[in-house]
Amino acid sequence: MLQHVFQPVPLDLYEINPFRKISEDWMVISAGTEEKANSMTASWGGMGTLWNEDVVFIFVRESRYTKEFLDKTDGFSCTFFGKENRAMLKYFGSVSGRNEDKVANAKMHYDYIDGIPYINEADTVLICKKLAAVPIEKEHILLPGLLSVNYPKGDYHTMYVGGVIQLGAR
Ligand SMILES: Cc1cc2nc3c(=O)[nH]c(=O)nc-3n(C[C@H](O)[C@H](O)[C@H](O)COP(=O)(O)O)c2cc1C
Repeated sequence: MLQHVFQPVPLDLYEINPFRKISEDWMVISAGTEEKANSMTASWGGMGTLWNEDVVFIFVRESRYTKEFLDKTDGFSCTFFGKENRAMLKYFGSVSGRNEDKVANAKMHYDYIDGIPYINEADTVLICKKLAAVPIEKEHILLPGLLSVNYPKGDYHTMYVGGVIQLGAR
């Protein structure tokens, strides 16, 4: 796959369906350092406004290797790909970086903005600084049915709020 340079895009020009972009296209969350980073697929999350910042909300379960990188560093990226990369997204969402170097196996590459890793082959990249990490606990879930369906093993999510530093597109 060709590596390329992202062009910064003003957020005002970014037009998406906020209810479908993440849930249907999926995204890859990357975190870590130039020495070691990890990535996983995510389809739950959101984009919006908080504390007068343009933000991304991501939800990462305790068991994910990517969470170790998210917790140790100051930022993360969300990258979006075209339909031709669906198999790669499934791979990034079913194998853990604890067991395989997913980015190398997919013949993809990390690049860095402000030291934050992102996958260069993506169509769109959101570079985020971490503003908050909020563990979602059992007591926070108000609809009991959500607990049994989504957390049968107690593998709860942490919500990370990322302030968008840069949007890039090819
Ligand atoms: C379509 C899809 C969406 C996913 N969405 C999420 C998500 O939003 N949050 C999450 O914690 N895991 C999600 N996962 C699961 C992780 O991507 C998966 O457990 C991955 O192997 C974790 O990799 P890691 O251990 O290298 O971090 C999703 C998986 C798929 C296939």
